[in-house]
Amino acid sequence: MTLPVRLSRLAAAVSLLTLGLLTADVGTAAASPAPSSASTTGTVVLLRVEGATSTLFEAPVLTVPHAVTTPSGGTHHCDGTNNGANPTAGPTATGALDNGAQAGGFSWDGTYFASFDDYLVTSIAGESQTDTQFWALLRNGSLTPVGGCQQQVRLGDEVLFAFDGFAKAHALKLSGPVLARAGQQARYTVTDAATGAPIAGATVAGASTDAQGQALVTFHNTGVTRVKADRADSIRSNSVWTLVTN
Ligand SMILES: *[C@@H]1O[C@H](CO)[C@@H](O)[C@H](O)[C@H]1NC(C)=O
Repeated sequence: MTLPVRLSRLAAAVSLLTLGLLTADVGTAAASPAPSSASTTGTVVLLRVEGATSTLFEAPVLTVPHAVTTPSGGTHHCDGTNNGANPTAGPTATGALDNGAQAGGFSWDGTYFASFDDYLVTSIAGESQTDTQFWALLRNGSLTPVGGCQQQVRLGDEVLFAFDGFAKAHALKLSGPVLARAGQQARYTVTDAATGAPIAGATVAGASTDAQGQALVTFHNTGVTRVKADRADSIRSNSVWTLVTN
C-alpha cells in the first residue's frame, strides 16, 4: 500500500489530539488570533467519507461555523441553529464535510429543505445516492438524530458520511498496534462502533475476525501500512496505521 502525502500531517494532528495539546476552541484562522464570539470558534474533528467501494476521505479537519453552498441547494447557514436545533452557533457535521471537501479537493452536493432548514446530502466526491441507497451521517458510530447542519460537533468527534449507511448492520471500529514485526502475528480487534460489541467475520488485511472480534495478521513487507476492517453488511472501519519493522 502506498503512503499518502497527507500522512505526516494526519499523524501530527492525531498525535496533537491524543496528547491533548489542541485546545477545544480553535480560532477562526491564524490571521484572527482573538475570536470575538462563540460563533467564530471552530474545532477539529476526524472526518471520514466511506463510499460504495472505497474510503473517499479520512483525516482530521478544522471546521468553523460557516454558511455552505451546494449546486442543488444554494447557500444557507449551517451552524447548528438550523431548525432551532441548538440555541447558539457552533461547528457542525455538514460544516466539517464542507471544510474537508475544500481541504481534500472533492465536491459534494445536497438538496436544501426549508421545512427542516437543512440539507439532504445527495452526492460526495462523485458518488451519488440512488433510489434505494442514501448517504448516512454518523457521529462516533451512531446515526445522528438530526441533519448535518443541525448536528453540532466537538473536539475529537468522528464525523462519518457513509454511502448506503442506513442499510448497514454495523459501523465497524478497528483498533490495532502502531508497531508490528514482519513475520510475526499482530492482533487487530473489530467492534461495533456504537455498542463496542465484538464483530466476527470481518476481514482485516486478509485475516478474518473470530467471535471475540480479533484477527491475527502477519505482515511480510516492512513500512507503514494502512489497515481497515470490512464486512459485506457493514460500514468499513476507520484506518489503523501500523509500522512494520524487521
Ligand atoms: C466521540 O469520541 C471521541 C473520541 O473517543 C470523544 O473525545 C468525544 O467526546 C466523543 N463525542 C461524543 C459526543 O461523545
